[in-house]
Amino acid sequence: MAQKRTSKRKRKIRIFDTTLRDGEQSPGASLNTPEKVKIARALEALGVDVIEAGFPITSPGDFEAVSLISETVKKSAVAGLARCMEKDIVAAAKALKKAAKPRIHVFLATSAIHRKYKLKKAKSEIVRLAAAGVKLASKYCDDVEFSPEDASRTEPEFLSEVVEAVIDAGASTVNIPDTVGYAMPEQFGALIAHLRSDVSNIADAVISVHCHNDLGLATANSLAAVANGAGQVECTVNGIGERAGNASLEEVVMAIATRSDFFDCTTGVKTNLLYPTSRLVSGLTGLVVQRNKAVIGENAFAHEAGIHQDGILKERTTYEIMKPADVGVPASKLVLGKHSGRHALNERIVSLGYTPSAEQLEEVYERFKVLADKKKEVFDPDILALIEEQISEVPAVFALRSLHVSSGSHTIPTATLVLVMSDGQTKQDAACGDGPVDAVYKTIDRITGIAGQLVDYGIHAVTSGKDALGEVVLPADFAGRRFSGKASSTDIIEASARAYLQAVNRAAAEAGAPKRASRKGKTRGRSGKIAPARGRKKTAKKTRPSRTK
Ligand code: KIV
Ligand code: ZN
Repeated sequence: MAQKRTSKRKRKIRIFDTTLRDGEQSPGASLNTPEKVKIARALEALGVDVIEAGFPITSPGDFEAVSLISETVKKSAVAGLARCMEKDIVAAAKALKKAAKPRIHVFLATSAIHRKYKLKKAKSEIVRLAAAGVKLASKYCDDVEFSPEDASRTEPEFLSEVVEAVIDAGASTVNIPDTVGYAMPEQFGALIAHLRSDVSNIADAVISVHCHNDLGLATANSLAAVANGAGQVECTVNGIGERAGNASLEEVVMAIATRSDFFDCTTGVKTNLLYPTSRLVSGLTGLVVQRNKAVIGENAFAHEAGIHQDGILKERTTYEIMKPADVGVPASKLVLGKHSGRHALNERIVSLGYTPSAEQLEEVYERFKVLADKKKEVFDPDILALIEEQISEVPAVFALRSLHVSSGSHTIPTATLVLVMSDGQTKQDAACGDGPVDAVYKTIDRITGIAGQLVDYGIHAVTSGKDALGEVVLPADFAGRRFSGKASSTDIIEASARAYLQAVNRAAAEAGAPKRASRKGKTRGRSGKIAPARGRKKTAKKTRPSRTK
């Protein structure tokens, strides 16, 4: 008799990405609306279930970003955050009006500390406000999520009471945040188990978790919750977020995928898009990913010890639990040399997932030829760096024509630069600095009339070898607004100049400069002057208008 096949379906864990809301609250990160839309598109392609696009009441910029993302994204649900206040909920509903799958995410703190010092409210008042907030949000939207802020430090019995009340009021997702990253995995897992057994209507809602990384346990706590029945994990690309950040999306997703034998769960994330998405977020936020970051860090698949290298050569699985290709890390193999033509380059670029315009391809090709001359061997990561810079869509209000730097142990570092303006004219100037990079940045400030303050500066080698491309990633403040830049070159001073110019160009565009000048620098004058160039301060100021949380 033929045996009947029984294929047990794995439980699907929903991935709720909050890169654009909690992630954007990272100290040092700031994204403008087009950049947020670009990230939202990438998150949709990645296959996340929910994109938290912002906190609409906090600023016109957040409102605009949530509205535009709502118009753009069709496959993933789009969430807007709101306190349990009518004005917040109405703003979120308005911003989400065009979303195919809108979700209003309301929150209210429940822990004794927050009740006593922040809210000055009794337990009964908290339950009433939470339920009222959810009820009001349900009038505007079928999909309502509620978060009892600081849940992990809330008395478990009171947490059950709040959760039961908000589900009764219409919440279809209850999110349990470890707001200050205080929980231990065993304890946090037990809290989820407690809610599952203690809350009478829990089956009517999905249990979600939202863990912060203050003790480096955000991923571990999220996974402990999944093991105890949570059905949604809130996380961010590269783990960015308030203070030490949120649970890292790539870690959560790859843990569930790699240890599906343990979790018996799955997610809808296309894991081969994790690395490109990580690079996109890092480039646009200016937040550099640490080399040894799990899953997508530069060293995540590097084997240094001889015994390990020997093992890998004999059998990859001796020391590798994931393949670089599983997460979209391009192979470090020789792909092209200086005799390769446009066609071969284009084929390589397409195989890396990009479709440049003819103009973009031409410009990447020009830079490729220069690089191939200097470097002899060009690898996939080099091509990725070139193409990402070319398609960054930053208007070239100012472009670097040439630079000369003199520096040494007994000379004053001095830079001379020639920039091409968007009207095709060139301007040149010179300045001294503390070091060659500082001198270059001071010269750019003098030429552009836009003063920036460097907030951070990261440089890394794109591949190994002394002739490797150096990639510079930086955020800088311009008159209270933060913009990022990313550029690569075998000359790290040039990479530093171009990365900073990219941030300057973002700032100039935001201040009302012409939308898009050709990279060759054709036409249209710059109208928006951000701030007169003054001395560069080394300390970063926190400039974001303060959020409600
Ligand atoms: O950390 C937190 O508690 C939050 C909530 C708004 C979910 O970000
Ligand atoms: Zn949070």
